[in-house]
Amino acid sequence: MSSVNLQTLSEHKRNGRKFAMLTAYDASFANLVSNAGVEVILVGDSLGMVLQGESSTLPVTMEHMAYHTQSVAKGNQGALIMSDLPFMSYASVEQALENAAELMRAGAHMVKLEGGRALAETVSRLTEMGVPVCVHLGLTPQSVNVLGGYKVQGREQTAALQMLEDARVLEEAGAAILLLECVPTLLAEEITKNSNVPVVGIGAGPHTDAQVLVLHDMLGITPGKKPKFVKDFMQGSSSVVGAVESYASAVRDGSYPGPEHSFE
Ligand code: KIV
Repeated sequence: MSSVNLQTLSEHKRNGRKFAMLTAYDASFANLVSNAGVEVILVGDSLGMVLQGESSTLPVTMEHMAYHTQSVAKGNQGALIMSDLPFMSYASVEQALENAAELMRAGAHMVKLEGGRALAETVSRLTEMGVPVCVHLGLTPQSVNVLGGYKVQGREQTAALQMLEDARVLEEAGAAILLLECVPTLLAEEITKNSNVPVVGIGAGPHTDAQVLVLHDMLGITPGKKPKFVKDFMQGSSSVVGAVESYASAVRDGSYPGPEHSFE
């Protein structure tokens, strides 16, 4: 695969071609996932839960994120690498600039942060300074204690209108990608139609421009109850590479996610 960049992803959106994103946290999986044709690797702070066994993403530090970003960058074969700014690492604009610089030096091509329009200035400064930003809306796991649990967001009209407005303001501030987690299908569709930048979904129905999953979830190795939006792609595949390839092709042909993985 030739190297994926933001222009590639914008072209995909313009041409109505869906693209795939998966988490990876080390060189071996980064190599496998990128060679399987997945366009974007997310070095997610979900590593706190899937690698470190924590019960939330809150204990993840900048040191952890930089270490895993470096490992992913070494194995990557042309995917775009997005790295999470962890909890409280972007509480001020200055902190966001400093910490984003560390992730970019470690090999990230862009950073992701969680929150609504209050982040507009941060997004705008990062973009001006050469750091492309993805903003994560909907269920934002770093705010689990404010949200009162891992729940679908934007079900009520006021919350839905707020999310639409957040998406608009953040795109205007310079966000290069929006990511929607656990959002009703119709709202995700509306945000996707109204955005000029690619919108990635996880538990946000089939109408977003792209999909993302946590690698361990789609390989069926995360212990405990799996969220509704997760599909185990190892079922019916004879290898890990096969499972990752069938995930990427199911995202591209629109067969994943189905209604059984979505919130109406
Ligand atoms: O950290 C992560 O893996 C994420 C995905 C759930 C989108 O943010």
